[in-house]
This record gives sequence, C-alpha cells and structure tokens, in this order.
Amino acid sequence: MLSKKQKELIAEIWGRLTPVADDIGADALHRMFASYPGTKTYFSHLDISPRSAHMLSHGKKIVLANPARLPAPDRPDKLQGALARTSVRHQTSKSTSCKKHSI
Ligand code: HEM
Repeated sequence: MLSKKQKELIAEIWGRLTPVADDIGADALHRMFASYPGTKTYFSHLDISPRSAHMLSHGKKIVLANPARLPAPDRPDKLQGALARTSVRHQTSKSTSCKKHSI
C-alpha cells in the first residue's frame, strides 16, 4: 500500500513526464535496445535510429499508455493492474507476440 506522500510523488512525476513523453519514451526504447539487443527484432518494421519519427511516436504511446489506463491520476496504486493489461495485450497481439519472434 502506497503512502499519501508516495502517491503525491508519483503523481508529480507523471505530471512532469507527460509533456515530454515522446523524448522520455524514445530514450527508454533506445536504452532497451542497447541493453537487450534482441528486442530490436520486435521493431524491425520501424526506423529504430535514435529519435526517429517512429521512435518518438512509439515512445510517446508507451509513456502515455499507463496514465491513460489508470482509473484516476491520483491512483498510482492501480499501476500494477494497468501494466498487467498491457502485458496480456502484448502476449496476444500479432505484432508483439513472442510466438512470432525468435526471442
Ligand atoms: C512498460 C512496458 C511497455 C508498455 C507500457 C508498452 C506499451 C505499448 C503500447 C501502448 C503499444 C501500442 C499498442 C497499440 O497500438 O495497440 C505497444 C506496442 C508495441 N510494443 Fe509495447 N510496451 C511495453 C513494453 C514492450 C516491450 C518490452 C516490447 C518488446 C521488446 C514491446 C514491443 C512492442 C511492439 C513491437 C509494439 C508494436 C509497435 C508497432 O508496430 O507500432 N513493448 N506497446
């Protein structure tokens, strides 16, 4: 269970991330590719060069996906549930399913 202070800090962080979601998301993707090169195969249909239009657009999508799925911005304790839905969606989607990729 998160304390009131922890919830306030998380809400503040989301507030700062949202206006620069494309930058933060593209950077996170780039770090994932550097740390786990195998993950690049999932994105072979996109231009994965740093800060490409695809990476900025996809980065924004992933950063905004979580707050968008929370029932309310002041309920960060629901984040785990939101991530669980994202996880299931990735497992069942044609483009993200591990069955389609060699990882
Ligand atoms: C917290 C982690 C993650 C979040 C919040 C997230 C979120 C999303 C969202 C919102 C979409 C768009 C879905 C749609 O348009 O219907 C997406 C697509 C996708 N995700 Fe993730 N994702 C995460 C982690 C990952 C990881 C670890 C991988 C693979 C290594 C991955 C691979 C993909 C791919 C390949 C697509 C489709 C891209 C395209 O064709 O445009 N995701 N993700």
